[in-house]
Amino acid sequence: RTVAVILAGGTGTRLGLGIPKQLLKIAGKPIIEHTLAIFEAAPEIDEIIVLMATGHVPDAQQIVDKAGFRKVTKVIEGGDTRNATTRIALDAVGEGDVNILFHDAVRPLVSGRIVRECVNALWSYSAVDVAIPSADTIIQVDENDCITDIPVRSALRRGQTPQAFRSPTIREAYRIAEGDPNFAATDDCGVVLRYLPGTPIKVIDGSDENIKVTHPVDVHLADKLFQLAAAQAPRLTDHRSYSEELIGRTIVVFGG
Ligand code: CTP
Repeated sequence: RTVAVILAGGTGTRLGLGIPKQLLKIAGKPIIEHTLAIFEAAPEIDEIIVLMATGHVPDAQQIVDKAGFRKVTKVIEGGDTRNATTRIALDAVGEGDVNILFHDAVRPLVSGRIVRECVNALWSYSAVDVAIPSADTIIQVDENDCITDIPVRSALRRGQTPQAFRSPTIREAYRIAEGDPNFAATDDCGVVLRYLPGTPIKVIDGSDENIKVTHPVDVHLADKLFQLAAAQAPRLTDHRSYSEELIGRTIVVFGG
């Protein structure tokens, strides 16, 4: 059984809209509806659980009902932090050895290809991350904003979601983390890396469009990307993402 957990427990303070950003409409639909549609359509996904921001469970439930997403079995409240939301999701998934994909509700441009590759990788690995190379040089700074290190760029990736796990692995990592008073993490692979060291965490290729709507400019970018995807839709095959399609076309153009 493969369960997709949609993390929508945040309020979007950096966007500062007054409503959780996952409820913002882009390309005619709330962001979370776009996200859910990808997992609903993915043949690898059996069940979807939504963890929603406090006070907004009815909003999310209404979106699910109206769109008729049949794989969604639970819409429940998330926690105070992203990791607290993950813990609640682990309880909601229930017992047994299942595949769990955690995905940010505010990454509505994830592709079917990425979902499929995450699930396939779980045959060989118990933890899987999605990432892309960094075009920017990443610098490490101290509390005075002075550089302390510039890691070699070719060894760096920018993490996205989904992050996928066999349930015993992620449960065990969180169980050990519970005993750590200094527990702090911004994602779930980080919890496995820290508390179950030695566990191989496979990284599969994300995509440039799989952006996390975080700052106001991302709303415009996401809107534009949906427009481009809609224009390309009839030509897209095999769940290829827009940039993959674009690269294909560019090669054709340059190739003559
Ligand atoms: N998230 C969550 N539970 C929380 C905090 C975040 O499920 N307590 C989810 C968000 O809803 C989002 C994803 O984690 O889909 C990525 O987090 P982020 O972009 O940081 O979202 P917010 O916390 O909403 O944004 P901000 O940090 O600007 O407040």
